[in-house]
Amino acid sequence: MLTIIAGTNRKNSTTLKIAKFYQQRLAAKNVSSTIMDLAQLPTDFVFSALYENSGKHEVFNQFRKQITDSQQLVFIVPEYNGSYPGVLKSFIDGLQYPDGLKGKEVALVGLSAGVLGGAWALSHLTDILHFLNVDVISVKVRLASIKSHFVDGEITNPLYNELLEMQIEKLMLNNTTIYNIS
Ligand SMILES: Cc1cc2nc3c(=O)[nH]c(=O)nc-3n(C[C@H](O)[C@H](O)[C@H](O)COP(=O)(O)O)c2cc1C
Repeated sequence: MLTIIAGTNRKNSTTLKIAKFYQQRLAAKNVSSTIMDLAQLPTDFVFSALYENSGKHEVFNQFRKQITDSQQLVFIVPEYNGSYPGVLKSFIDGLQYPDGLKGKEVALVGLSAGVLGGAWALSHLTDILHFLNVDVISVKVRLASIKSHFVDGEITNPLYNELLEMQIEKLMLNNTTIYNIS
């Protein structure tokens, strides 16, 4: 299973729209995927699903199970205050420790209003994922100045599209769910 994680809990986020766009790009290559929207997390999970409550929160456990069942993950990561959103780190902290992400293949896509495209956000997240023994795909896509390059649900910047294509090609090398439509 491949899960695309929309890495913010902000309502009506561009991150979720990019997640949907990414899912369409995968579908065009016959790769099935599911979107996990962090805005759907239980609102109290930071206090009710972590540490001594690990594994005890029924709704949060459904998120954990989806991660467990996914061999591949795509993180869509908005740049917040020069890094990735705190809710994403809290979500990772709520996964099974220390093996919740071990051995999974992860693709990273950053986006920002400014010119960095989440460069630091992806760098910080890569450090965490490597600490957790995750295989991070080397092609990391940074969608800077997103408002100018994402119009009506489509990426209009040719370089961004090329980089996304390269990343998806890498994901497909190890994907076992590619369906045959012929
Ligand atoms: C709390 C917060 C902090 C942000 N910090 C940055 C930032 O450091 N650099 C930047 O370029 N954009 C920043 N932004 C703008 C987002 O990167 C931008 O809105 C982008 O569309 C992705 O966020 P979204 O998915 O919430 O829409 C910030 C937005 C929020 C809500």
